[in-house]
Amino acid sequence: MRIAVLTGAGISAESGIRTFRASDGLWEDHRIEDVATPEGFARDPDLVHRFYNQRRATAAAAEPNAAHRALARLAGHAQLTLITQNVDDLHERGGSEAVIHMHGTLTGALCAACDHRWQAPAVMSPSDPCPACGKPSTRPDIVWFGEMPYRMEEIWEAVAKADLFAAIGTSGQVYPAAGLAQHARRCGARTVELNLATSAVSRDFDDHLVGPASEIVPLWVDRLIAESRA
Ligand code: APR
Repeated sequence: MRIAVLTGAGISAESGIRTFRASDGLWEDHRIEDVATPEGFARDPDLVHRFYNQRRATAAAAEPNAAHRALARLAGHAQLTLITQNVDDLHERGGSEAVIHMHGTLTGALCAACDHRWQAPAVMSPSDPCPACGKPSTRPDIVWFGEMPYRMEEIWEAVAKADLFAAIGTSGQVYPAAGLAQHARRCGARTVELNLATSAVSRDFDDHLVGPASEIVPLWVDRLIAESRA
């Protein structure tokens, strides 16, 4: 069975990584336009690097939870395409490979002058010279609002081919990720949403599993594996 899974901040919430739009969400004490747009970076690169240095430290101190590990298990029993909006590396540390990070990664650094990419140090600053061109124009390799998400052709294609599309822990408020369920449905897939609550796109899903990801994702994966053996 071909399964495409999209994850959002909710899958890492129980690992201690803040989501964005909950009452204690990241966007409650940071303005998106200041820390997650190219304009904000041009205005105050130091503020932006401080924001991502903090998120990089939080992610490095976090551990994958049972939901991350369950998806790694699923890959051994289905043709799984794992797409994430998250910039932490908990899927990889939970055992998943070939994760598609459509919004970039905290472990990546990018040169705004020459597009060179390299492994980000734990702490980045605006004066860091690019290892390739030497210019002090390094930024986190994160896709900001107004920028094109990474690997969208690959994502649209994998979702179009899927028999089953699942969205786990995402509020469905940011496109193009939020449009993937509709795309899957149009291409004939069954769709399931796994979340603590309803999302902005719950109507695009055939099935809904409600609960904390660390509980409902392992149960969902175990059921899929049992069905694959039947
Ligand atoms: N288990 C399952 N779902 C959860 C849990 C949990 N323990 N905790 C929270 N959730 C759900 C919430 O109900 C919500 O639907 O996770 C979702 C989190 O929503 P957001 O904070 O909006 O995060 P996300 O959907 O990933 O945001 C998408 O927006 O800010 C940008 O680039 C950023 O990638 C991010 C994108």
